[in-house]
Amino acid sequence: MDKTTTFPSALAGFEIEGLTEADAPRLMPLYQSCQDYVVLERGHLPDATVVLEEIQSFPPGRTEADKFVFGLKSATGDIVGMLACDRDYPKEKSWWIALLLIDPAVRGQGVAKTLCGDFFGWLKTQGADCVELAVFAENEAGLRFWEGQGFTSVRTAGPVRIGTKQHSMQVLGRSI
Ligand SMILES: CC(C)(COP(=O)(O)OP(=O)(O)OC[C@H]1O[C@@H](n2cnc3c(N)ncnc32)[C@H](O)[C@@H]1OP(=O)(O)O)[C@@H](O)C(=O)NCCC(=O)NCCS
Repeated sequence: MDKTTTFPSALAGFEIEGLTEADAPRLMPLYQSCQDYVVLERGHLPDATVVLEEIQSFPPGRTEADKFVFGLKSATGDIVGMLACDRDYPKEKSWWIALLLIDPAVRGQGVAKTLCGDFFGWLKTQGADCVELAVFAENEAGLRFWEGQGFTSVRTAGPVRIGTKQHSMQVLGRSI
């Protein structure tokens, strides 16, 4: 599985592309349109460092080889969503979702729900049996979204400092 790996999706009018560090500038417009989320996460507006940091950060024991960043491209070629994840964390056969970000212009249409459903279906074909993630306690909408996708609480985590913010987090998980 290399960085250009993608997964089949039922999302009509969109294409999924495996992204690398070289694609960081292409993700900037998405981060800018999602600046409310970036400010919630870091306490400051998005810049090029924030995008690179997402691509270059790995959970404990994982490396660059386990990081996959999927971009969701609209028919015009713009990246309107991203799903960043880490393979085999916190344990083998479990994948960790580092970030799911959808452009506000295409929110509320079932895009994230379909993207996740397609992603989880593909992960299963790759031998995975579980997905976990951490949502900031402050991100109540994000928590509701994940609960709607069948995730339940695993544990609390933190505090963790990101930018000028300090977060406590809810770790959620579900089997796939
Ligand atoms: C959370 C996010 C990914 C949802 O994307 P989306 O494409 O608008 O979500 P969908 O349209 O697929 O919604 C799927 C379901 O979640 C619900 N949902 C979506 N956003 C919600 C919100 N803010 N509050 C409550 N429920 C929400 C929808 O009502 C829908 O429910 P249904 O299946 O019963 O109809 C998007 O709002 C986002 O990028 N937010 C900022 C980043 C973030 O918080 N990411 C999650 C933490 S990693």
